[in-house]
Amino acid sequence: MASLRLTFMVVTTIVIACMHFPTTLAVTSYVVGGAKGWSMPPKPNHYEAWTEGKKFIKGDRFYWVFKEGKHNVGEVSSKEAYDTCNTTAIIPPLIEKVDGSFLFLYEAKIYYFICTIHCSKGMKIAIDIKES
Ligand SMILES: *[C@@H]1O[C@H](CO)[C@@H](O)[C@H](O)[C@H]1NC(C)=O
Repeated sequence: MASLRLTFMVVTTIVIACMHFPTTLAVTSYVVGGAKGWSMPPKPNHYEAWTEGKKFIKGDRFYWVFKEGKHNVGEVSSKEAYDTCNTTAIIPPLIEKVDGSFLFLYEAKIYYFICTIHCSKGMKIAIDIKES
């Protein structure tokens, strides 16, 4: 049921996105971290390594797949907050449920995301979104 609802939301959002952004149809969907999803990184630079060689553009979709209650993901406001794992710098909403774990990134900027529980273990990712 949960995945049905997620599928419905994704399809709905894609339709809406296509109506509003006709020139950004070449967007890509990513599962952040690949097959292991959003989990305790085997090594501190795990997520940095995952972004290597990938080009992210406005409108790309990012799915954070994780166990509800075990991890979360939120954007922090600055590189400094990201570097220091400052959990009070989270820009709401903090995503704690799998149903809400996908994001469309539309601004050409570097986004900084952390798991507030395991950031210090390297569970954080900087995503550089390009204009096109
Ligand atoms: C953490 O972030 C908050 C909100 O941006 C800020 O007010 C605070 O000074 C930061 N703390 C440190 C130690 O940088």
